[in-house]
Amino acid sequence: MNDDQTVFEAKQVAEFSSPGTRLATSLRSSYRRIDDFERSRFDDICQSTLLCGDAEQALQTLPEKSVQTVLTSPPYWSLRDYGVAEQIGRDDSLDAYVCSIVSALEQVKRVLRDDGTVWLNVGDSYTSGNRRFRASDRKNRARAMSVRPPTPEGLKPKDLIGVPWRLALALQDAGWWVRAEVIWSKPNAHPESVRDRPTKAHETIFLLSKSQDYYDIDAVKGPRGRRLRSVWEIPTEPVQRPNGDTDDHPAMMPLSLARRCIAITTQTGSVVLDPYAGSGTTLLAADELNRRWVGIELKRAFVDLIERRLAGAC
Ligand SMILES: C[S@@+](CC[C@H](N)C(=O)[O-])C[C@H]1O[C@@H](n2cnc3c(N)ncnc32)[C@H](O)[C@@H]1O
Repeated sequence: MNDDQTVFEAKQVAEFSSPGTRLATSLRSSYRRIDDFERSRFDDICQSTLLCGDAEQALQTLPEKSVQTVLTSPPYWSLRDYGVAEQIGRDDSLDAYVCSIVSALEQVKRVLRDDGTVWLNVGDSYTSGNRRFRASDRKNRARAMSVRPPTPEGLKPKDLIGVPWRLALALQDAGWWVRAEVIWSKPNAHPESVRDRPTKAHETIFLLSKSQDYYDIDAVKGPRGRRLRSVWEIPTEPVQRPNGDTDDHPAMMPLSLARRCIAITTQTGSVVLDPYAGSGTTLLAADELNRRWVGIELKRAFVDLIERRLAGAC
């Protein structure tokens, strides 16, 4: 990266990181949507692409070494029921959950450039103490898992499971470099009713790389010109929509967080991938920053939601 480019990227990080910033939707570039990719093979990613289907299968249609950065938030273990067959995160066993993501990330490794990086946002949870039911989620009644998985072997009731680090260590064993643990601190986190531990107000985002040397983020400065720190305070951006449940996604990432990650590890024209695209926050941010993007999402209703967001309709 030359000096001008470095300064440009640094400005982007500062500019696009401020919470609540919204960019003009008219800047959106064209894209293609593919619902049946069974027989597709893409030679290059000259156009942004939205694929509806299972991440691990869809990734196999993409050309190798074509993606500069991945920003993704796979379903958290046994937390939300997205109501589709083949969804990950419903596994009864923690090991099966970790294995399914490690396996999908093997395909990600294939499509990632050698100097590419992955921003992986993963949530943690507590063991249930062998309660198999889950109290309904007042904000998202229909979407919380109705049952809890059995307590993983070796853990005790009420233990914090450490899902993000279990996954990171498995990915390290699979050959990934774990380069940073970013703490996404949420100043507007929901209150919790628990009294015997601090209320959880953060999530973990890992920066992984495919090689020891990768896209140079060393010179990138964060807000106020300081070298970027590993604790990022970014409020969640709750969305109020008239249609409520039917037009909503229960786990949307803030756009400002997506912009920051993408601005740090890509440049104009790079390809950004989100294999668990959800409501498409990664894709929107990539589009706004003039990057090409590939989004994969299993649930057709969410792919429709992504299209509405890309069109600026919500
Ligand atoms: C945590 S959400 C992602 C939210 C996203 N970051 C956003 O800002 O909207 C995870 C998404 O993964 C999708 N999903 C679950 N299993 C999948 C699979 N096997 N392949 C592709 N997508 C999957 C779910 O439908 C859900 O929308």
